[in-house]
Parts: sequence; structure tokens; C-alpha cells
Amino acid sequence: METRILPVSSADLGRFDNTQNLYTWHVNANQDSQSLAHLYEAAEALRLKDSPVGFPTETVYGLGADATRSAAVKGIYAAKGRPSDNPLIIHIADLSMLQSVLSGEHHDSTRIPEHQEVNLLPEIYKPVIERFWPGPLTILLKNPTPSVLAPEVTAGLPTFGVRMPASALARSLIKLAGAPLAAPSANASTKPSPTTAQHVLEDLDGRIELILDGGPCSVGVESTVVDGMSDPPVVLRPGGVSIDELRACPGWENVQKAYKDAAEIGKEAPRAPGMKYKHYSPKAKVVLYEASFTNGRRGVLPEDIANTDLSETVEFEVKEIKATSDTTGNGLDSTLDISIGEDTRSIAKGLFSALRELDRRGVDIIFVEGTLDDEDIGAAVMNRLRKAASQIRR
Ligand code: TXA
Ligand code: MG
Repeated sequence: METRILPVSSADLGRFDNTQNLYTWHVNANQDSQSLAHLYEAAEALRLKDSPVGFPTETVYGLGADATRSAAVKGIYAAKGRPSDNPLIIHIADLSMLQSVLSGEHHDSTRIPEHQEVNLLPEIYKPVIERFWPGPLTILLKNPTPSVLAPEVTAGLPTFGVRMPASALARSLIKLAGAPLAAPSANASTKPSPTTAQHVLEDLDGRIELILDGGPCSVGVESTVVDGMSDPPVVLRPGGVSIDELRACPGWENVQKAYKDAAEIGKEAPRAPGMKYKHYSPKAKVVLYEASFTNGRRGVLPEDIANTDLSETVEFEVKEIKATSDTTGNGLDSTLDISIGEDTRSIAKGLFSALRELDRRGVDIIFVEGTLDDEDIGAAVMNRLRKAASQIRR
């Protein structure tokens, strides 16, 4: 199967003046543009075919399929090589689509809704939706019976995870597809998540037909997954919304952390390689120096050379700090140095991309200097790094 990359330019998506209208999303694209033609092509593939489509969100690139069709959802697990006992989250264009799912009805995006309200939403979620949607927050809800969602989405659980992405491209694609899209990150299982269309191609070339290219992702780590129906509410996966931001919402003051990463899994270091928590892994061995590490010398990626502005792109400078080459060009003995920034937002944005870049350059070992868990979205960064690491120094 040939994999095609279809560019969608944000300029063609026009000025979106309805970002704040959570209830109904209107596709607002330049009618004659190639971008709109590409969105239509991808949406049609999502409606009619069972091969998933790669598409950007503000967090990472997703691998989307119509969440209401089993055959389409199975296509995601097949393309990724993902174990089918791990549930997928669904992505909605607007709240009217969520209202349909909660009512157990297929969505009709051509119908003008009578009232702009989701009456089946538990109260606890209202302040966080108001504050963080569209955006990198995934909430768990009770799956109605009967449900329009394919059983492969929930992997047998009585709940489903859902988010409304902030990306106008993503919301437009979902709207045109006319159904919620199940979408995990569009990497091959165990690899770092993709934050550019090129990353998706690296992993899934020949395994999927289409990738929409909307440029690099602005957040760079996946959404925060929360369960507000447990008491107190819990964070199941740290992500693009920090625990402090959640805590500021009514009803969420006492939100607890319910995930485990190597911060809790024994304090013994170094950790044995190949632990079952290993994910997000480049080919190179990753050695992580926790921010608390004080003994001996620090790892590479020092902060003092942070001079790259990551606000527009995920490009960073790779510095060769020591190199000795032989005449054949083989057996290079060199050290590369990447700084992805000082604040956790910049680090999150460049993290997966930097790991992939170092793999592309064939490095054997990556030393990473950690950041603090309690600094903004530092918990998400450290969670991914601890899972990628085969050795942690504290
Ligand atoms: O930012 C994101 O969330 C990206 C982009 C593409 O939107 N998507 C993503 O999806 O990361 P996925 O499927 O790779 O991760 C969803 C996470 C997994 O850790 C999964 O175990 C958990 O959410 N999850 C999904 N449904 C759940 C459920 N019903 N109960 C508990 N955990 C669930
Ligand atoms: Mg993933």
C-alpha cells in the first residue's frame, strides 16, 4: 500500500472565529483550496474505508478511524501493532457530537440542534470542559447501553475516554467524517509519539494510506487523562494540562495522581533494561538523570546552551561537541548535544522529536537531564522519559 502525505495549510482553514463555540463546529475553509480538497479526501476515506488516517492534533499526531465502525477501529490496532486490550480515546468536533454519543445515537451533523446543551454530562466535568476544551484533556464517561461506539474502542470497559482537540484541522476533519474518531498516537507501538507528519511516515509507511500534514504539533505530549467520576477525581495519565491547573477548577481541588511511573516503582537505580513500563523508546539506550541527581557529572542537554526558540517550529540545533572521524568516515566517535529548552512547555514540544532525531543520526546512547515533576507540565515530560529510559540515575 502506498502512503500519501496530504498537506493542509492553516492559512486555508481561514480565520476560525468559532473556536470558543464548543457546541457546534463549523468548517470554515477556503473553498477553492487544495487544503479543503485534502480534508474531504481524508474524511471520505474515514467514512468509506477501513484503513486509518494519520492527522495532527495540538498534542501529537493521531491515527484516526470512525469510532462507530468495528472494522475501521480494528484497522488502527493492525497498523500500529497495538495490543487490543488497551482502550482508545475518541475525538469529537463539538459538544453536539458528544451529546449524540451519550444518548446512544448516531450523530447527524447536518441537523440543527434545538438546544445547545449536553444534558447527560456529569456536573464534575463542566468546569474542566469550560476551562480546557478544546484542548489536551481527556475525560472518562460512562458508555451508554446500547452504545454507538464499536466495542474495540473501549476494550470491554464500561467507560470511554473523549476529548475535543484544539486543532482546527482535527475538528474540521472529525466534522466532515461525521462521526467521532478513535485515535491513539500515530506511532508504531513502543516508539516515541509522532509530532510531525514525517514521524508518522517513518513508522507507518506502507501500513496506512493517508497522512494529513498540518505541520508540527504545538504541545508535543499527549493529553492528560482524568476520571472525574471517582471520588476524589484522579489523573490517569499526566499530559498537556497540569495537575495544578486542574486543581484550580471547582470540584477538582483534591485531584489525585493515579498513575505510576518510575518515580514510584522502587527507588533502586539503575533500573534493569526492558522493564514492562518501557514505551516511547528510541532505538538508542536512554539514560535519564532525575532533576534530583547530585552525584557525579550531569548528563548531556545542559540548560546553559538553550538558545533555540521553539515557539514556531520543533526545529532545534544539534551541536557536535566532540568528533574524531577516520578516513573511511566509519567509526565516528562523537557526541551530539541537543537543547530543547528550559521551560517544561518547550521541553514537551521538542521531546519526542529530539529522541527521534538522535535515532535518525544513529546514536547508541542518549543522556537526558530531567526536569521537575511539579513544574507546570513537567510531570508529563518526566512520565514519558521514565518510560523511555532503560537506566535512571537519581
Ligand atoms: O493527546 C492524546 O490523547 C492523543 C491524541 C492523538 O489525541 N491520543 C492518545 O490516545 O494518546 P491513546 O489511545 O494513545 O491514549 C489514550 C490513553 C491510554 O493510556 C488508554 O489506556 C487510556 O487513555 N484510556 C482510554 N480509554 C480509557 C478508559 N475507558 N479507561 C481508562 N483509561 C482509558
Ligand atoms: Mg500512544
